[in-house]
Amino acid sequence: MSDYALLARQLETLLDTRDWLTNTAQTCAFIKHEIGDLNWAGFYLQRQPRTLILGPFQGLPACNPIAFDKGVCGAAATTRRTQRVADVHAFPGHIACDAASRSELVVPIVHDDELWGVLDLDSPRPERFSEDDQRGIERLVEIFVAASDLSTPSATS
Ligand code: SME
Repeated sequence: MSDYALLARQLETLLDTRDWLTNTAQTCAFIKHEIGDLNWAGFYLQRQPRTLILGPFQGLPACNPIAFDKGVCGAAATTRRTQRVADVHAFPGHIACDAASRSELVVPIVHDDELWGVLDLDSPRPERFSEDDQRGIERLVEIFVAASDLSTPSATS
């Protein structure tokens, strides 16, 4: 079981710049390396019109773009609520980027009352993510948001 209090302190130390691009790259590398049983960890970024584009990630090349009304990521983007899916095969509209994925956790990232993007974690193990994992990962996302300047656009805005 992951020690999320320790991971939170480590991530706060790791994110020593305000640059969100650097911080997305560092955050998903940190999560993929430190948290067990993950086959994919990465960010999708909100772009108009109501589309998620692939951002920094760790794992196999992934689906891009994702419409707001598609998949687990789309559900997180639309509802702005974390999606914790015990069995992706039972989730209507799940987008299978990697056939090995069996469970998924997607945390929305909101800035200035706008959806900025989502953090997406996939696991090859069904029911990989507990409520503790959800709370712990949501805390890591809060640390990413606090550390980063999310107002600065990227080249693809
Ligand atoms: N499974 C996701 C798509 C993204 S990949 O898992 C990296 C979904 O249904 O939204």
